[in-house]
Amino acid sequence: MSSKQFFNEVAGDWDAMRAGFYSEGVREKALDRAGVRAGQLAADLGAGTGFVTEGLLRRGLRVVAVDQSEAMLAKMRTKFAGAADRIDYRKGEAEELPLADQSVEHVFANMYLHHVGDPGRAIIEMARVLKPGGRLTITDVFEHPFEFLKTEHHDRWLGFRREALEEWLTAAGLHEVAVDDLGEECRVRPEGGGETALMNIFVASGRR
Ligand SMILES: C[S@@+](CC[C@H](N)C(=O)[O-])C[C@H]1O[C@@H](n2cnc3c(N)ncnc32)[C@H](O)[C@@H]1O
Repeated sequence: MSSKQFFNEVAGDWDAMRAGFYSEGVREKALDRAGVRAGQLAADLGAGTGFVTEGLLRRGLRVVAVDQSEAMLAKMRTKFAGAADRIDYRKGEAEELPLADQSVEHVFANMYLHHVGDPGRAIIEMARVLKPGGRLTITDVFEHPFEFLKTEHHDRWLGFRREALEEWLTAAGLHEVAVDDLGEECRVRPEGGGETALMNIFVASGRR
């Protein structure tokens, strides 16, 4: 099964699954760090069912929600029907984002980078769509040893090292690059039981 098929299949259950994995604290800390302001336009990459989008809408932003999965975007459309005029839904892939150059003030990517084939290329795409002065804010997990996530959750990468993230953001031409521990955790139980995987979440940010 491909990653796209996996996320199409779990779209209906994703909100409950997500709540078991990590809390709203991840989103709120990421939005605080980015310094979002009402009226701005943000891209939510790997938007899923709109975990980050929900926070952005509450803070008065408009959102371009991008995901490879039709089912995830369909679920989002139903959830946010009342905010249809503030969300632009686009089906697209990490390595070729369906967004124009320099078109948004913020890019957010929560728990998305560990699913993409080429994270360095994906970060170059994120930087491409930022307006000058715009901010990239990636939240994901630091490197970990939990191999079962590759088979059970279609993760491609077992998290990331701080040094690799710093290199990718810098190579993408971003300034004020910083990678910090967000002070939040991601917890996932293996299907067959056993020890719960506990992963520390980072926030990686930079300005174009
Ligand atoms: C773990 S979910 C996170 C969803 C959401 N950001 C959240 O925090 O709830 C990862 C999402 O990224 C999408 N995704 C994975 N790989 C992708 C790719 N290469 N291009 C576009 N979207 C991708 C999946 O379809 C899925 O909706």
